[in-house]
Amino acid sequence: MTFEARETEGLRFPFTPRRPGELAPEFGRLRKEEPVARVTFPTGDSAWLVTGYEDNRIVLSDPRFSRAATTLPGAPRLQPIPPDPASMFSMDPPEHTRLRRLVAPAFNNRRMAALRPVIRHEVDLLVAGLAVAGPPADLVSQFARRLPITVICELLGAPAGDRDRIAGWVDILLSLTQFKPPQVAQARQELKRYLAELVAAKRENPADDLYSELIAVRDSGDLLSEEELIVLGATVLTGGFLSTASEIALSFLCLFRHPDQLERLRQQPELLPSAVDELLRYNALTAGGGLIRVATEDVKLGGVTIAAGEAVLPAISSANRDPGVFSDPDRFDLTREDNPHLTFGQGIHYCLGARLARIELELALEGVLRGLPGLRPAVPLDELRAQGGHLVRGLPELPVTW
Ligand code: HEM
Repeated sequence: MTFEARETEGLRFPFTPRRPGELAPEFGRLRKEEPVARVTFPTGDSAWLVTGYEDNRIVLSDPRFSRAATTLPGAPRLQPIPPDPASMFSMDPPEHTRLRRLVAPAFNNRRMAALRPVIRHEVDLLVAGLAVAGPPADLVSQFARRLPITVICELLGAPAGDRDRIAGWVDILLSLTQFKPPQVAQARQELKRYLAELVAAKRENPADDLYSELIAVRDSGDLLSEEELIVLGATVLTGGFLSTASEIALSFLCLFRHPDQLERLRQQPELLPSAVDELLRYNALTAGGGLIRVATEDVKLGGVTIAAGEAVLPAISSANRDPGVFSDPDRFDLTREDNPHLTFGQGIHYCLGARLARIELELALEGVLRGLPGLRPAVPLDELRAQGGHLVRGLPELPVTW
């Protein structure tokens, strides 16, 4: 496949939301007027931005939109460095199917149910720490980031003392403009070097964790290469930390903006599962949504022809507000019943950690609201800044009191 020379076309992407966690107004306009629109990324590359629900489902699941092709030399890029071809994030079948089959059992219902008490215990510890220290506190650094990095490191088998370092690497790896390409490349290299050492240590001393299991698979046949084994760890860490941390922070922010619904959730914790899905639908978590794809042949979509070699970005947060699918889509309603949001994607790359993320969110909301009655923002909400320059857009801080 060959790629056209770079030229600046269409709107500059990403757009800037008016307030943190909200959908930038451009998405609604494009969904109505130009559902598949030309945009230019900070790298200078152009792509088609897809804003409607049905078109998003197609981009996420149609094999003519390839993830593997995004790793080819010269392929259009959203992020500062090309995706890692050894990650299942950027593979097509059959390679993707092979890796996914190996790792999926670690995320099955039984495993996730077994993790529940571990996560609840961690939530209780963090909440108790906040309660003992007393208000005010920063809900981002003291809770929202701590919980998912702890859970994901436990799952993988990374030592507690390494959590901050790992979180720091993931922050850099998910940057759009905050870090320069050499810094991002260095972070990837350092994380991979770290994981290679972790694999070596676990070969010596296996434990009851995902990495030890995968090492056993690797060493018992030729199903998994050493590079794939290392990159799997990086994939799980990059997939599982910042997204969940930012979603937890944005969820509290959203509830603070809707105090009547926050109160209702306090009174009726049985609403938590539907509240979690509504928060996942409503919060505009990322700059776009899904990962970019490259068309492997000409594809007609939304009234345009996407030529082979061109990039497509599924704007999932925009799909989640499509009035053709969600009634009164810009209304946050934690009792919403029919909620087929696309926040975890669709098709073969459907988020491997979706169950885990839901459990973390539910227990985080439940634990904090129960353990810190009277929780409220400690600053006017309009003063809060969004996390800029990142693919995942959380909050740098969320000062709270109770
Ligand atoms: C609120 C939290 C989360 C959100 C919103 C989220 C969202 C997503 C989305 C949209 C995709 C598909 C991307 C695409 O096809 O373009 C995805 C894939 C993935 N996610 Fe998540 N995720 C979350 C949490 C997690 C967690 C906790 C883990 C792991 C422990 C995880 C691991 C993964 C992996 C490994 C993939 C790649 C799957 C594949 O390529 O087959 N995610 N996630």
